Amino acid sequence: MNSKRIAQLAAVFLLALVLWFSTDALKRYKSLPKKPIQNPEVPIIREDLIYKLTYNDKIVDLMQIQFLDYLNGELGMKEDEVFGGSLTKSYSYRDKWQYLHSFNKRIAKKGYDIRFFHRFALRARAALISYRILYETPPALLQDLATLSPEPSLTEFKASLLKVIEDVTKLLYPWINPPFTSIAQMHMSFLSGPDVGIVITCGTKQFYMAKHLILTLREIWNINLPIEVFYSGEEDLHPSMIKSFNEMENVRAVNLLAYFYEETYFWSGWSVKPFAMLASRFRTVIFMDADILFFKNPLSILNTPQFLKTGTYFYRDRKKREDMFVKGTILLSGIAPHLSRYGRTLEYTNQDPKRYTTTHMMESGLVVMDKGRSGVLFSLLMAAKMNGVRERNWVLYRMTYGDKEAFWFSTELMRVPYYFNPSHGGVIGKTTKITSNAEGYTAVCGVWLLHIDQEGDPFWWNGGGVLRNRTASKDFDFEDFTHIATHRLEGSVNGNVWVSPGNGHCLNQTNEQVFQLTLEQQNLIEQYKDIFRYGIQEIPLN
Ligand SMILES: *[C@@H]1O[C@H](CO)[C@@H](O)[C@H](O)[C@H]1NC(C)=O
Ligand SMILES: *[C@@H]1O[C@H](CO)[C@@H](O)[C@H](O)[C@H]1NC(C)=O
Repeated sequence: MNSKRIAQLAAVFLLALVLWFSTDALKRYKSLPKKPIQNPEVPIIREDLIYKLTYNDKIVDLMQIQFLDYLNGELGMKEDEVFGGSLTKSYSYRDKWQYLHSFNKRIAKKGYDIRFFHRFALRARAALISYRILYETPPALLQDLATLSPEPSLTEFKASLLKVIEDVTKLLYPWINPPFTSIAQMHMSFLSGPDVGIVITCGTKQFYMAKHLILTLREIWNINLPIEVFYSGEEDLHPSMIKSFNEMENVRAVNLLAYFYEETYFWSGWSVKPFAMLASRFRTVIFMDADILFFKNPLSILNTPQFLKTGTYFYRDRKKREDMFVKGTILLSGIAPHLSRYGRTLEYTNQDPKRYTTTHMMESGLVVMDKGRSGVLFSLLMAAKMNGVRERNWVLYRMTYGDKEAFWFSTELMRVPYYFNPSHGGVIGKTTKITSNAEGYTAVCGVWLLHIDQEGDPFWWNGGGVLRNRTASKDFDFEDFTHIATHRLEGSVNGNVWVSPGNGHCLNQTNEQVFQLTLEQQNLIEQYKDIFRYGIQEIPLN
């Protein structure tokens, strides 16, 4: 086909999609029952059962994982360059394919208890494996796998792969429709959508911070990328505020409930993040919490070798151990019996009980993902499902803190290379004298979580920007930051470096790198305050 013909077809297809979507889907969305059932009855089971694997589970787990590492091109690569690292020199997919393919076909249609995340992963991987073979492998490999399979012809082999993808979609992700009819169609729409854009989730309470964030991106950082602000219906974001966003240039307020409504209808707080990222038209989504601000241009992430290589960029949370979330670390080690080589380097998975370990790995205030890469897209689908109403109530939010760990649990389980910025979360705030012992010591305290960039410079912070009252709508009152403290990996000590004298989170000055804000940083913060003072008007709500 020539490019003109492709463009014509795409235009017809898009028009059809828009027409169909705006009538049928919205009608169905509007006719949903008004009172959602949050907690359908389930039989009580012992918690540890949900991450106990059988011997057989572990065998098929390894089989899928090795195959994915093989598809990731790891055979023959140097040990310290690989992401997954499950392959031995003598690995041959030819020995295992027949069993693996028949296993994938079988489980793809078999229901399972949604609390068992490993069974969820086996199915999701069956789809990713089939998808990558069907759409992305070189013809020679496709042909060879067809020869090894029971299907009599290449055409039938391809049909069997498609069937696995369709069955798994029906089983795990039926909610992608509307608006998407299949994962492949979803993938195509991202490949032909805007290359990069910014996604923010926002309700009435976050409106002024979100608006301020957008103004800072435009005015301070000269970023003119399209921005989508997702809200969950007019009860979440006031219609006047929706209008206000839509009046900004290249900003669009999008009702998340018009996407994936079988799941998003049951939204609650954090759970909207992965769904909004998935719903966005953009291929690469730079997701931002409404209450973050930057010290440097956020687009620099897109040029890091780590993002270019993996199509992901994640940030670490504070390295902190909280007993109630130890469960999360146990859950992951149970459901991921063959962690990737990269995953094994993360402090969350290094659960030596005698050492200090963290129960928080990721912080999802800024998440970058390229949905044009099939592995990343499949991981985001999985992260969204983990934040689905049943999965989060029964597993994710019980064992980990909110939505955040789902993003990298998914990339890890799907064997998709991912990358964490090389520093733990630090703090921006003020120095505080702590007098728990005779002589006392100094710490930097604040509720704001500070991140540094690849170069080691302060990059962005989470927790309310410069506002003292995060929900204020006028007469803005500001924080006075004086210091930052970073918490680098190499400086980590085996002990809790966070001290809690009262308000906020405090990093002990002696253990960490503490800096006074530079003049330049102070000026930037003044500019941020000015945007609140002069750039933002209160929206009357009636
Ligand atoms: C913060 O601002 C909101 C909206 O103006 C107000 O209702 C609330 O009382 C304020 N909170 C504090 C702690 O001042
Ligand atoms: C913080 O550092 C001071 C000085 O080295 C030390 O005396 C104190 O025990 C440390 N506090 C904590 C909680 O680590």
